[in-house]
Amino acid sequence: MTSSEESVARAEACANIALAKYWGKSPRGDNLTAVPSLSLTLDSLRTRTEVRFQSSLRSDEARLDGRALTGRPLERIVALLDRVRAASGETRRALVTTSNDFPTAAGLASSASGFAALALAASHAARTGWDRARLSALARQSSASAARSLYGGFVALAAEAASATPVAPIDHWDLTMLVAVVTAGPKPIGSTGGMVHTAETSPLYGAWVADAPRLYDEVQRAVLARDFPLLAQAMEQSSLTMHATMFAARPPVIYLRGATLDLIERLRQWRDEGLPLAFTMDAGPNVKVLTPSEHADALATRLADVPGVGSVLRCRPGPAARLLALDGPLEEAIPLPESEALP
Ligand code: PMV
Repeated sequence: MTSSEESVARAEACANIALAKYWGKSPRGDNLTAVPSLSLTLDSLRTRTEVRFQSSLRSDEARLDGRALTGRPLERIVALLDRVRAASGETRRALVTTSNDFPTAAGLASSASGFAALALAASHAARTGWDRARLSALARQSSASAARSLYGGFVALAAEAASATPVAPIDHWDLTMLVAVVTAGPKPIGSTGGMVHTAETSPLYGAWVADAPRLYDEVQRAVLARDFPLLAQAMEQSSLTMHATMFAARPPVIYLRGATLDLIERLRQWRDEGLPLAFTMDAGPNVKVLTPSEHADALATRLADVPGVGSVLRCRPGPAARLLALDGPLEEAIPLPESEALP
């Protein structure tokens, strides 16, 4: 809806989990990544965001799950809105209302779905007419992993690329990702700070940057060929090499917990017994376990019984970010200006 007083848009985006990880920024700046990454967008981890540019507002305001945001979280939202205003000529301040259907800051990639939904809603409300690649670049400037959440299915972000690109559509491979939520206190350090510190102090960082393209190629080959054993090997090595690089920083960056490592040991036993699975960990203690969907029930039952696992979330490949209707039901999709034939 647009009037001289206000202009509104709503969008929804899903989180994504990297199968080939990125960790580290390019020296070229602009939040470009040092290494390529490849992710799977997940259907049941969603963020919905409404952006309302209003002439009556003196400053930008944001609410997440009913709570007013302040400090760094608000500043990051304002920075994205400022980019949209600078490019579109929109001058009004915005009221941003956002909600997650999963626990925020539990290491579940809420910044990816959050900035993807915000980029889409803010750009549409400011009537930029930007295509999906441009929206992906806008989201990337706030959170590099968010660039990938503009697309559905399997998605790549090349090293130093402005935007993500789709690799394979949502129905390419019937996989399920089970997120084993490991109960733990707050994160030791956010991902941006953790990356900078790792790059500056870890003697293994150069080796990680040198090897990440090979791991990325292997993950991509495995995805395209639907080769689960190859995918398991490559994605686990990607995650563990990333964490090993952080372990070697001074002081070390340790996101994994005892319960994380105990769970990994069990997962490897279950695989030896014949259950196909592949695990990956991000900047947090949770373990994300990928499996062909026909094994998801058996795996979910076993995971729920492991001590230290608080809950298990079940996710299938998810769709691209989309606009939502303002006056119909929230689920009603509106096509993007140029929806291309995207997954
Ligand atoms: O771009 P950020 O700050 O959301 O960092 C994401 C980093 C990892 O999740 C650990 C890896 C990745 O490629 O998503």
